[in-house]
Amino acid sequence: MENLVNGTRVFAVDVAQPEVAPLAEAAATIRSGGLVAFPTETVYGLGADAANAAAVERIFVAKGRPSDNPLIVHVSDRGMLSDVVREIPPKADRLAERFWPGPLTLVLPKRPTVPDSVTGGLDTVGVRMPHHPVALALIRAAGVPIAAPSANRSGRPSPTAADHVVEDLAGRIDIILDGGETGVGVESTVLDLTVDPPVLLRPGGVTLEQLTKEIGEVVVDRTVHGAEAGESPRSPGMKYKHYAPQAQVILVDGPVLDMQSKIKDLAYEYEEEGQKVGIMCSAESRGVYQAPVVLEYGSRDDLSGMASDLFSTLRAFDRHGVSVVLVEGVPATGMGLAIMNRLRRAAAGRVVQV
Ligand code: TXA
Ligand code: MG
Repeated sequence: MENLVNGTRVFAVDVAQPEVAPLAEAAATIRSGGLVAFPTETVYGLGADAANAAAVERIFVAKGRPSDNPLIVHVSDRGMLSDVVREIPPKADRLAERFWPGPLTLVLPKRPTVPDSVTGGLDTVGVRMPHHPVALALIRAAGVPIAAPSANRSGRPSPTAADHVVEDLAGRIDIILDGGETGVGVESTVLDLTVDPPVLLRPGGVTLEQLTKEIGEVVVDRTVHGAEAGESPRSPGMKYKHYAPQAQVILVDGPVLDMQSKIKDLAYEYEEEGQKVGIMCSAESRGVYQAPVVLEYGSRDDLSGMASDLFSTLRAFDRHGVSVVLVEGVPATGMGLAIMNRLRRAAAGRVVQV
């Protein structure tokens, strides 16, 4: 089924049979330098042929993305990995063996054939093999590695459903493949393997605990916990504000009861100022608040479930027209590390510790 939105063709894809039409058409679009948004297990990606510098440039224009923020290259097999990287150290090999296909991006020395526009001028490239039938089928059918950032306008929450991509990019790209909701909900973990011990640049779908169990020591880059990236960040993406709805986001973090009472106080203060307040909280806290818009995003006992609903909940506040969103923090362990990283960045430094 095809639907046309502002010139962008939106196709429903049968996830159980990704090989049938419209896949051939989407693959041809990639091969001829076009842009195709497609589902992965983490978030939707905006894909172009990674070897085609002009096509890659179009990604930056469509997203409004700063050109020094490198893209992740998506591959469907190990052969393609060898086509884009110069060297695969033993730890990278082990991690690929254990977690691919899956939400882990390995930063490795790039081959000269990878255009500078993909890597933001760095001599390394981030590569991952996605765990999604549509993503894998698209890469295979195109027969080339696909460069793909998250398919959102720069600064917006990453898309976890095709509707989010339509919202942000209809009219700016050629095709959107609608494969339903993504599962993991936060982006892949980005790990720099050009140094030893490896450095965690972005927490994501594979947890720090899982990495450590597989390869031993992993250094956590200071930007992961919200430090400013400064002048020469290792992961250029970390220096930009991100993941934000239109409202101002304020993250409140600490023991549950203290968070709840601080959020109640702040909600009262902002309402007195005439603001429309939204609250984003766990299912456990749902009954505690009386603000006009209270949206829960899962149980604190299931951080993976919370990660899965994180971005769609942030986006939902825009539909309610709130001006301030007060968000409860979660423990920064397991998937909680990725959740807190995204929330800190959505809050752009407005974090209240109680
Ligand atoms: O789950 C994901 O990773 C999704 C799906 C579509 O695969 N993609 C994604 O891409 O999140 P993007 O462009 O939104 O985020 C890529 C992140 C950025 O923080 C970027 O700075 C970092 O990966 N990155 C990419 N290549 C890098 C490199 N060579 N060195 C350091 N960081 C890199
Ligand atoms: Mg992104």
